[in-house]
This record gives sequence, C-alpha cells and structure tokens, in this order.
Amino acid sequence: MGLDYYQKPFREIHAKIPEKHSKLGVACIDCHDNKDMSLKVGKEFTVIPALKEIGVDPAKIDRQEMRTVVCGAQCHVTYVIPRDKDMKPIALFFPWQGGKWEI
Ligand code: HEC
Repeated sequence: MGLDYYQKPFREIHAKIPEKHSKLGVACIDCHDNKDMSLKVGKEFTVIPALKEIGVDPAKIDRQEMRTVVCGAQCHVTYVIPRDKDMKPIALFFPWQGGKWEI
C-alpha cells in the first residue's frame, strides 16, 4: 500500500484483516519463520530497511541478537510517525535509526 498505509484511517486498514483473525493482535509470524520456528523479522517496509540503514544485514543477525530484535527493535520502542507539511503521516521512524548496532 506504500504511503497509503500510513494515511488511511486505522479502522479502514484493520477492516482488511479477515474477521475471524481481527482480534488476534500480535501473532506467531511476527517473530517466527513459519517453516522452522526460528526467529524472524518480516516487516519489510519498517524494521528491515531501518536495520540496513544502521549497517546491519538482517540475514546475518545471530540468535541472541534476534531475541532483542523481535521484541525490542520492532515493538517495544517509542516509534515516531513523521508527517508532511499538511500533517499527513508519511513514514515510520524508530528511535534507534541513526544509532549504532551494539547489543
Ligand atoms: C514478540 C515475539 C514473539 C511472538 C509473537 C511469538 N514468539 Fe515464540 N519465541 C520468541 C522468542 C524471542 C523466543 C526465544 C527464541 C530463542 O530462544 O532464541 C521464542 C521461542 C519460541 C519457541 C521455542 C523455540 C525453540 O527453538 O526452543 C516456540 C516453540 C515458540 N516460540 C512458539 C511460538 C508460537 C506458537 C507463537 C504464536 C502463538 C509464538 N511463539 C509467538 C518470540 C515470539
């Protein structure tokens, strides 16, 4: 959905989730690879580019580091949604973006 994702009302985006799954919240697939249950971050438009921006190859993160990434990097952070001059949301910014990889 690109930028539209940030600009559509929450209810409209939430309505895209099939009803029987709409109250599940966080799911196994947010942290696990569904083939072998290894830890995995699949957020290709937020966490993955932000990791690359600080020089981290998401494919090379070791197990111990992945434990931190699935919990702390993707959810337990106070992320910011920057806005354009018309106050429309345009992206998602993690507080650790621009930082250094030190786990
Ligand atoms: C918020 C992230 C997150 C979610 C959501 C999550 N897990 Fe996990 N899970 C972890 C972490 C972190 C570990 C510890 C991995 C490690 O020891 O390296 C783990 C470990 C496990 C393990 C043990 C794997 C092993 O190799 O010993 C299983 C099984 C598991 N999770 C199943 C599930 C299932 C089933 C769901 C959904 C109902 C789920 N998890 C949802 C983060 C998550």
